[in-house]
Amino acid sequence: MLFKQQALLRQKLFVLGSLAIGSLLYLVARVGSLDRLQPICPIDGRFRPHGQDEIPLRTLQFKRGLLHEFRKGNATKEQIQLHNLVQQLPKAIIIGVRKGGTRALLEMLNLHPAVVKASQEIHFFDNDENYAKGIEWYRKKMPFSYPHQITIEKSPAYFITEEVPERIYKMNSSIKLLIIVREPTTRAISDYTQVLEGKERKNKTYYKFEKLAIDPNTCEVNTKYKAVRTSIYTKHLERWLKYFPIEQFHIVDGDRLITEPLPELQLVEKFLNLPPRISQYNLYFNATRGFYCLRFNIVFNKCLAGSKGRIHPEVDSSVITKLRKFFHPFNQKFYQITGRTFNWP
Ligand code: A3P
Repeated sequence: MLFKQQALLRQKLFVLGSLAIGSLLYLVARVGSLDRLQPICPIDGRFRPHGQDEIPLRTLQFKRGLLHEFRKGNATKEQIQLHNLVQQLPKAIIIGVRKGGTRALLEMLNLHPAVVKASQEIHFFDNDENYAKGIEWYRKKMPFSYPHQITIEKSPAYFITEEVPERIYKMNSSIKLLIIVREPTTRAISDYTQVLEGKERKNKTYYKFEKLAIDPNTCEVNTKYKAVRTSIYTKHLERWLKYFPIEQFHIVDGDRLITEPLPELQLVEKFLNLPPRISQYNLYFNATRGFYCLRFNIVFNKCLAGSKGRIHPEVDSSVITKLRKFFHPFNQKFYQITGRTFNWP
């Protein structure tokens, strides 16, 4: 009997304890979200502007909070007005390269309190139908932000689409352009893997990478294959250079962003004239994912979706050698133009 009562008491204590912990966690989260609606840390007092380009900051919490509320549809028109929220055209665009790590770069830059990302790929400049809708349509696709923040969008198709440089130039000739690249053969295989996965999802069969990348008639690299063409970075960059000087581009090392993201992000912060605010605290290695994930604060962290970081199929080593040999002269030219050497094989 006594034993039964003790067990009952223990059970009650356990339930009460769980309730107390649950309420505490709820309160922490709630206070966090209330904080978000208060301008808890005005910028100017925290950072002395060094130049015109410098962007004043608010706290990370402040930024995330209100924008988050708005995204959820919770912010009212009054709040938007009160906080001077605006939809701004991007001051920087990640123009490519597909499978270079464009999503990781955007998400990681979004850790910076002065950066606001457009979550979706907007495809304004590469899609004629969207482009015909005009610049106001594009602006309305942008997230709400504070006037001192910068909006960044990414659409990797921009890098390889002929019409895009001129169109972006017409919008803003001094815009900053980010290109994230990976070793070209790896990038091409990653590109193939994405398409392959799409086919498999639809229960379709698909060619092997080797068959697509090598022309069976000549046994040479098949330059008609899009995954190969996209990896000839210098060819695409040369088209962009007809409109923008090289100083307006920053090249991000996508291979290093995987293994050592912080120094790469610090280079981008510099390029964007942002004070260094992304730190090691914001990035932690997740062994299960095999990638760095993002930590915004004590409560909120996230890894990229599972579609980022796929296992590549095995590719015949002679094909890899052939591709690397093919890309080599283009890579040399790319290093020369950009002033950044990657030592790709
Ligand atoms: P793989 O799937 O080939 O590994 P994009 O966003 O341009 O499509 O690029 C996808 C690539 O981003 C992935 O290619 C992956 O390697 C890379 N990547 C870089 N940092 C990552 C991260 N922290 N988490 C997941 N993927 C990351």
